[in-house]
Amino acid sequence: VFDHLVRAPEDPILGVTVAYNKDPSPVKLNLGVGAYRTEVILYVLGLLHDQVKILYQCEFFSLILYVDIGRKPLVLNVVRRAEQMLVNDSSRVKEYLPIVGLSDFNKLSAKLILGADSPAVQENRVTTVQCLSGTGSLRVGAEFLARHYHQRTIYIPQPTWGNHPKVFSLAGLSVKTYRYYDPATRGLNFKGAIVLLHACAHNPTGVDPTLHQWEQIRQLMRSKALLPFFDSAYQMHSRLGFRKRWGECLVAQSYAKNMGLYGERVGALSIVCRSADVASRVESQLKLVIRPMYSNPPIHGASIVATILKDRSMFQEWTIELKAMADRIISMRQQLLMLYVVEYLQPLNHRALWSKVKCYHMQYVGSNLVKASGGANVGTPGDWSHIIKQIGMFTFTGLNSKQVAFMTKEYHIYMTSDGRISMAGLSLRTLPHLADAIHAAVTR
Ligand code: LMR
Repeated sequence: VFDHLVRAPEDPILGVTVAYNKDPSPVKLNLGVGAYRTEVILYVLGLLHDQVKILYQCEFFSLILYVDIGRKPLVLNVVRRAEQMLVNDSSRVKEYLPIVGLSDFNKLSAKLILGADSPAVQENRVTTVQCLSGTGSLRVGAEFLARHYHQRTIYIPQPTWGNHPKVFSLAGLSVKTYRYYDPATRGLNFKGAIVLLHACAHNPTGVDPTLHQWEQIRQLMRSKALLPFFDSAYQMHSRLGFRKRWGECLVAQSYAKNMGLYGERVGALSIVCRSADVASRVESQLKLVIRPMYSNPPIHGASIVATILKDRSMFQEWTIELKAMADRIISMRQQLLMLYVVEYLQPLNHRALWSKVKCYHMQYVGSNLVKASGGANVGTPGDWSHIIKQIGMFTFTGLNSKQVAFMTKEYHIYMTSDGRISMAGLSLRTLPHLADAIHAAVTR
């Protein structure tokens, strides 16, 4: 009965991983999906030989040894600790959660995203329901809006996360776009109507409004009585663009990236209302949306999040681990810019001996790489400063789909066809390979 079906295309983002998995090349690199990967680095410091000292005008050398641990997604220590606590607690059962999910998780999520001091939180004007990560939260919000909001048109940024248009149109909303990104400046196009807003670390561009621009957006939204729907998939990867005084709004939260709970599918939808009474009526309607979709959400991931958020020391441990992830991504940006824009760094003479080790001269101010030297200058044409100006997990490189296809075919580097690369998927070991590929794609 299904003979007439044609094969559906792979998803533009998750399909990149499918193609990557099929590639037998040992140098293949997956920079498609926005998922954090880690690496172990060993630094070896030593004194330089006298003659070499004169040549390089420095006394020490440093070797960086990369230990490839399989590029597995990182499970945070604090998450492992929370899971252990849950396992050891014999009073815990696997009963169905209520339709709206775990109560503690919902309260803590609203406080995390809106701030514990938010008047909306304090006055009980927020309804929060646990959903299936960011996508599930968006979809429940979209279904709710399609049923109960007087306007059925939603404006989403152009470009935006590839799943956004489908989530909203399948819920019955009519999807229109507003200009967000200016390809000429590789920055923000600060003009146009707005409804769906990425709360921080815009996906795919990595370009966020400044605080001043956020304020202008807020005033514009208010003056036109538009309803903001924030998608917060990368909370704490950069500064949140919203908090107080947005009035009525919807917020979809995900704990995939910031707690590394990708496969647990943990998220929340919060709706800020005018009064506690409206909030409770909104909740009753959300239950009618959720029950026929998936009845009630899963318990495990939400329990992990609640355990971490309600314990002060675990919360602190989480923020430290999160900062380490964010710092590694920032350092990938700095080093990529140095590698292929400023100069191609050559390994020193003992390349034969250390064929897998690259030696760089790098000068840091604090944790910022300000100067790199050691090789011939073959800078890649163009201005690539957006690599360090953009924020969050992604760099929107500006490479076109032909250049991306070339890099996949010749260098086995996998990324979305719009030129987005997940910086979280890079490591010091793989950076030079990416730098070579970009240089070749731009100059061929
Ligand atoms: C991404 O944009 O890579 C992530 O949000 C993963 C996904 O589901 O698309």
